[in-house]
Amino acid sequence: MDFLHGISHAVSEALSMDAEDIAAMMEKPPNREMGDYALPCFKLASRLKKAPPLISKELTEKVIPPGFVSRMEAAGGYLNFFIDKSLFAKNTLERVMREGQAYGGSEEGRGKTICIDYSSINIAKPFHIGHLSTTVIGNALYKLYSHLGYRCIGINHLGDWGTQFGKLIVAFKRWGDRERIEAGTVSEMLRLYVKFHDEAEKDPSLEDEARVWFKKIEDGDEEALSIFNFFKELTMRDVQHVYDMLDIRFDSCAGESFYNDKTAAVIEELRAKELLEESDGAFVVNLDEYGLPPCMIVKSDGATLYATRDIAAAIYRKKSYDFDKCLYVVAYQQNLHFKQWFRVVEKMGYSWYKDLEHVAFGMVSMEEGTLSTRKGRVVLLEEVLKSSVGKARSIIEEKSPDLEDKDGAARMVGVGAVVFGALINNRIKDIVFSYDRALNFDGETAPYVQYTHARSCSVMRKSGGGVQGKIDYSLLCDDDAQEVVQNIAAFPATVKEACRRNEPSLIARLIVDLAQSFNRFYYDHRILEEDISLRNARLMLTDCTRHVIALGLGLLGIAAPERM
Ligand code: ARG
Repeated sequence: MDFLHGISHAVSEALSMDAEDIAAMMEKPPNREMGDYALPCFKLASRLKKAPPLISKELTEKVIPPGFVSRMEAAGGYLNFFIDKSLFAKNTLERVMREGQAYGGSEEGRGKTICIDYSSINIAKPFHIGHLSTTVIGNALYKLYSHLGYRCIGINHLGDWGTQFGKLIVAFKRWGDRERIEAGTVSEMLRLYVKFHDEAEKDPSLEDEARVWFKKIEDGDEEALSIFNFFKELTMRDVQHVYDMLDIRFDSCAGESFYNDKTAAVIEELRAKELLEESDGAFVVNLDEYGLPPCMIVKSDGATLYATRDIAAAIYRKKSYDFDKCLYVVAYQQNLHFKQWFRVVEKMGYSWYKDLEHVAFGMVSMEEGTLSTRKGRVVLLEEVLKSSVGKARSIIEEKSPDLEDKDGAARMVGVGAVVFGALINNRIKDIVFSYDRALNFDGETAPYVQYTHARSCSVMRKSGGGVQGKIDYSLLCDDDAQEVVQNIAAFPATVKEACRRNEPSLIARLIVDLAQSFNRFYYDHRILEEDISLRNARLMLTDCTRHVIALGLGLLGIAAPERM
C-alpha cells in the first residue's frame, strides 16, 4: 500500500467511508511545510453537515495515522499529513530500483490504442523549423503514452496532394532534369516551382496545363503518377536524414494522397445523411449551430479539400486501428480547420468524434541575427540541427578536452538542445529559438540536464562497486536530499499528467528541477565519503537521479550521454 492509500484508509476508518473516495479527495499541498498530503475537509462539509475547520480538528482526534506518518495537523479546513522522511526516501528510491525501466509507467493504457498524427510534412517542400514542434511533441507523446501501456500508432500524414503537384509536373517536363533534382532534391523542386510561377505570369495557359496534370494524378495516369512518385520518394529520402538525427520513426506514412480513392465514399455518405448544402457550385456542411463558418467538402470544380481528406482519414483510422483517442499535433493556426471538421464528424453521427483531439502548439521562429533569418529564407531543420551539433562540439572541446568520443557527445547534446528547446515551454506558447539559450550548460536546457546525468554517471563509476549493502535512509533526511527524493517521487504522477494534458513540457520541467536539486545536493555534500553508510545512502540517491533523468530524457526523445 502506498502513502496515499495508507492515509486514505486510516481516514476512511475514522469516518466509515470508502477509502477510494477519500483517496480521490486527497491533495498534494503546494509546499512541503504544509505537509506531504492534505485532506481538504470542505469536500466533506455537506456530507457531515459541519464546517471544514471543525471537521479537520475532530479528525486529528479520531484518525489513527499509519506508522509512516510522523505528524498530523489541522490547518483551517485542511487536515495535513507529514510523512516520515526516512521512510519517504526508502519507499521512493527502492521503487525506482525495483521498477527500473518501467518506473513511472503503468498499465492504464493496456488494450487501448492512440493514433498520433504528427510531423506531417509536405512533399516537395523544405522540412523547415516550422515542423520542429509537431515532430518532437508528437514523438514525446508517443513515448509517454507507450510508457503507460497504450498501443501507439504514429502517423506522418504527408502533405502530398494538391494542385501544386500539377504545376510541378508541368515545370518538370519543360525545364526539369532528373539528375539535377536527384542531386538538389527539395531545393531543386522549389526552383522549378518558382520558375513555374514566373512563367505562368507571362503565359497563363500554363495554369490550365497544370490543372490537367493534377487531374491526371487524381485519375491515376501512369506518367503523371510516376513523376509525382519520383518527387515523393526523393523528398522522403531527403527528410530521412532529419528523422535519423532525431531518431524518429513512424508506423504509417499514409498521407493525403492515400485518401484520394476514399473521399468519394465520404461525400456520398454526407449526401445520404443530408448534410451537404450547395453554395456557388461548391458543397459545404453548414455549421451555424456551432457558430462556425461552413466546412467546404467539394470545390465547384469537383476537387476535394484538405478537410475532406482529414474526414476520410479519421474514418479510415477508426476502422483500421479502432483508436480510443486520435491526436493531431498541429500548429494553432489550424484551430478552425480542426474545429470545423470534428463537428462534421459529429454531425455524421459518429460518437467517436469526441475522441479526436487537436493538440495545438505555438510558432517557432529564429532569434534575430542568426544567419538564416538575415537571408530572409526558410530555416531548414537539418541546418539548425547540424549547426547546433557544431556549436556543441566546440563547447565540449573547450569544457572536456580529454573526452574520448567528442563527436558522439556533440551529436547527443546538439540535437538534444534543439529538441528540448521546443519542449520546455507550455506547448501553446510561441517560441523564439536561440542557439545560445538552447546550448547554455547552466540554463533550463538539455545540455544542463544531460551534464547532470553524466556527472552522476561519473560519480557511480568512481565509486567502484556502486551501492553496497543495506542503506540507512535516515541519512537522507536533510532538506537537500529530500528535495531530490521529492522530485524523483513526482515522476510517475507527472508522466500521467503529461499524457492527460498532452503536455510533454511537464516532464522537461521536472527533469530540470531534478537536475537542479541534485546539483545543490552535490555541491553541499560529499558523495564518496569515507563513512560507508553515508556513502551508500548518497550513492543510492545519485544512482536513482541518474536513472530518472535518463528515463525522462528518453521519454522526450533525447539521448542521455554517460560522459560529456
Ligand atoms: N501537412 C500539414 C501542414 O504542414 C499538416 C497536416 C496535419 N495533419 C492533418 N491530419 N491535417 O500544415
